[in-house]
Amino acid sequence: MAPPRRVCVTGGGGYIASWLVKLLLSRGYAVHATVRDPCDSKNAHLMQLDGAAENLRLFKADVLDSAALAAAVEGCEGVFHVASPVPADKILDPESEVMVPAVKGTVNILEVCSSMKVQKVVVVSSTSSVHFNPSWPQGKPKDESCWSDKKVCAQHELWYCLAKTVAEETALGYAEKNGLNVVTVCPCIVFGPQLQPVVNTSSELLVYVLKGGPNAMNGMLWHIVDVRDVADALLLVYEKPESSGRYISAPNYITTKAILDLLKKTYPDYNYVNCKAEVDHNYPITPISSAKLKNLGWKPRELEETLLDSIEYYRKTGILQDGEGDGHPCRLPDLFRFFHAAEE
Ligand SMILES: NC(=O)c1ccc[n+]([C@@H]2O[C@H](COP(=O)([O-])OP(=O)(O)OC[C@H]3O[C@@H](n4cnc5c(N)ncnc54)[C@H](OP(=O)(O)O)[C@@H]3O)[C@@H](O)[C@H]2O)c1
Repeated sequence: MAPPRRVCVTGGGGYIASWLVKLLLSRGYAVHATVRDPCDSKNAHLMQLDGAAENLRLFKADVLDSAALAAAVEGCEGVFHVASPVPADKILDPESEVMVPAVKGTVNILEVCSSMKVQKVVVVSSTSSVHFNPSWPQGKPKDESCWSDKKVCAQHELWYCLAKTVAEETALGYAEKNGLNVVTVCPCIVFGPQLQPVVNTSSELLVYVLKGGPNAMNGMLWHIVDVRDVADALLLVYEKPESSGRYISAPNYITTKAILDLLKKTYPDYNYVNCKAEVDHNYPITPISSAKLKNLGWKPRELEETLLDSIEYYRKTGILQDGEGDGHPCRLPDLFRFFHAAEE
């Protein structure tokens, strides 16, 4: 029997990466997953995945440690670079908290991939590197040719968006200059059940919608993708020899009011966040197209399934229950602060 195809996933214990590792194992890949601390209980779920005992190895690596990354990439034909900070708290030092790990971390892994002759690298970017572009024609759905304006990100202190934009630009620039096969995938807000025990930042947003809290939300457009469909998209672009450049994965959009109506229909008993206004058409988040990814064969699921599966997961694990110090925060992560309605 031929040996399994071997790939590396950086930040393997995170929300998206855990689903990707699970998918890769289910498809018979051997996986090298990097985590910052293999002994931390937040990564324990990985070795419980089907096929992990035979085909999953954990490597301790920070993305700023090239030697540790090289040990993880050795022997791999492909790499999925998923690791990058997604802070829920207000960013106080953008350089050290997001810019360096996102940008230098990406350069480090790409340099390792070049030196190890890796055949293909899939880099997880974000629609944050697409949306913030005031020059984009009004009414035209955004596509892969639209890039966030770095000056606009900096002016509004959207440090995460700036870091993702610079990291993705750097990755594609590096690929062109060095002849490395790099494809990027830009997911919008990711919801869906978790495999990891800690609540990640985008899941925290949905928990906040259900539980409600001090900040009312703007009426605006939300683009939502299922975490399982993001994993599918990452593997699809990896396996399709013809994939190239960027791919937006943002299949569904809905207004704040419509999302609340949809959730209240099935779960009338939560507090829910207040929604202040109808959609403000001056918002930078306007419709965005996933046609390029769908043309490659991506078949994302319906939004309702994602939302209901997320909530069933939260109910099962007790994330929605109140309680002091239960580790289940009820706050709108600062990353999504442009969802706050302005005070009246
Ligand atoms: N969730 C979304 O809505 C969304 C949308 C678009 C794009 N993305 C992108 O998807 C990727 C994964 O995000 P996620 O939602 O799955 O969040 P997550 O669960 O917080 O995962 C982030 C991962 O990055 C790792 N990481 C952070 N800094 C690192 C460093 N210096 N060295 C090594 N690893 C580091 C974290 O490891 P530790 O556990 O050790 O901190 C964690 O495994 C990120 O690139 C993010 O920008 C997410």
